[in-house]
Amino acid sequence: MAHSGASAAADMDAIYRYQRCIYDASRKYYLLGRDRLLDELAPPPGGSVLEVACGTGRNLVSAARCYPGARLYGFDISAAMLDTARASIARRGLDDRIALCLGDATDFSGDRAFQVAAFDRVFISYALSMIPLWRAALRQALGALKPGGRLHIVDFGAQGGLPRWFRSGLNAWLARFSVEPRAELQAELAALAALPGYEVRCEQLYRGYAVYAVVTRVAAA
Ligand SMILES: C[S@@+](CC[C@H](N)C(=O)[O-])C[C@H]1O[C@@H](n2cnc3c(N)ncnc32)[C@H](O)[C@@H]1O
Repeated sequence: MAHSGASAAADMDAIYRYQRCIYDASRKYYLLGRDRLLDELAPPPGGSVLEVACGTGRNLVSAARCYPGARLYGFDISAAMLDTARASIARRGLDDRIALCLGDATDFSGDRAFQVAAFDRVFISYALSMIPLWRAALRQALGALKPGGRLHIVDFGAQGGLPRWFRSGLNAWLARFSVEPRAELQAELAALAALPGYEVRCEQLYRGYAVYAVVTRVAAA
């Protein structure tokens, strides 16, 4: 599997070319925790929200409805997924609220893509597990935060509380879609929490099926 750039884009297009047609209907049963993330985003009035790897735009549409004053942005490496997102957003009459573009999470600039230097909220939902250079994507997302801003992450978890047979079945099935739960995500976030300027809250959901984390970039006093 490729790491980034054109071949990563081609890989994602190949995975989602047909899957995107059933993506929203099927993923609601197993991409757990996304609605909790959206509930907790709570951007300030008029605030800016960026979704990294927005896929079909399902989360951006929900966020636009929950937070009518917010300005929403999303990008994805797959042109096929973005086509679906654009159509879905237009169908709901939200194209003036949500800006989209093609982009790689490991090499992204809000300024370049949207002429927005930094965001009040950034979120990454079930994408770090598909990005081989996920630590680079995490750094880029943190770099896109305004002081006082928050990064919300939800993804497949470390599965510690799940039976072994379930874990091996789940991981074998996820691997077919190039999905690899990031067992070291919690440790990476703990290291981040030790640095000045960041506060981190991280919890395992559903016996470790999913992990949910919120990183706050503390505003200077
Ligand atoms: C499982 S989907 C999640 C989509 C959406 N965030 C959600 O919660 O439904 C993963 C998405 O990550 C995208 N992706 C994978 N690697 C990426 C990268 N390096 N940069 C940006 N997007 C990427 C894929 O194209 C796909 O749309």
